[in-house]
Amino acid sequence: MITISSLSKIYRTNEIETVALENVNLTIERGEFLSIMGPSGCGKSTLLNIIGLLDAPSSGSIQINGTSTEGMKDKALAAFRNKSLGFVFQSFHLINSLNVLDNVELPLLYRRVSASERKRLAQEVLEKVGLSHRMRHFPTQLSGGQCQRVAVARAIIGNPDIILADEPTGNLDSKMGAEVMQLLHQLNKEDGRTIVMVTHNEEQAKQTSRTVRFFDGRQVQ
Ligand SMILES: Nc1ncnc2c1ncn2[C@@H]1O[C@H](COP(=O)(O)OP(=O)(O)O)[C@@H](O)[C@H]1O
Ligand SMILES: [Mg+2]
Repeated sequence: MITISSLSKIYRTNEIETVALENVNLTIERGEFLSIMGPSGCGKSTLLNIIGLLDAPSSGSIQINGTSTEGMKDKALAAFRNKSLGFVFQSFHLINSLNVLDNVELPLLYRRVSASERKRLAQEVLEKVGLSHRMRHFPTQLSGGQCQRVAVARAIIGNPDIILADEPTGNLDSKMGAEVMQLLHQLNKEDGRTIVMVTHNEEQAKQTSRTVRFFDGRQVQ
């Protein structure tokens, strides 16, 4: 489902060169729940952003669903990303001026979906994450755990095969974190979505199907 070969990423700013990833080789199968661990600064977010087509590698290649995204134009890349990938970030990235329903509908604005269908689908995924009673609330009126469940609803409304989660419970207390983890496991087991998650939590990593570890941009296993 995701094949990463000899992938490296070097950030260059003026005189400074940072090797964020060095010769990463990784194959992620359909239906896997993969966790990525490693100390701060070891390249975890860089890898997730490259898998998510938000950033490009300096060398090496990545294939998603058999498609090489190398040389794809921005517009095609955005469409591919919108269709195949859902994102969940540590700090939720919700839009505070929009209510829950409108936040969840956002990914569908870039597709040809009617307003009534958008609303129906948003209600469906909000029910799935247990928040249909909060549709008219704004993000500032919700707890952190509820915000993250809204973000999960937004990530799945477009029915992506792959969910990328960067420290999804990093800003949550243990109870809310456990709820979000339960939800991710449900999306993996019941809906068969492939999940790639960055975490600092050993207990959470143990519950995933596989853990890969990084140190200084290298996979250490
Ligand atoms: N946009 C950027 N420009 C320059 N350096 C960056 C950039 N993004 C990340 N880095 C550097 O790349 C390394 C890996 O960062 P990151 O992937 O965010 O690590 P992690 O998510 O594991 O904490 C770090 O040394 C970081 O400072
Ligand atoms: Mg990070």
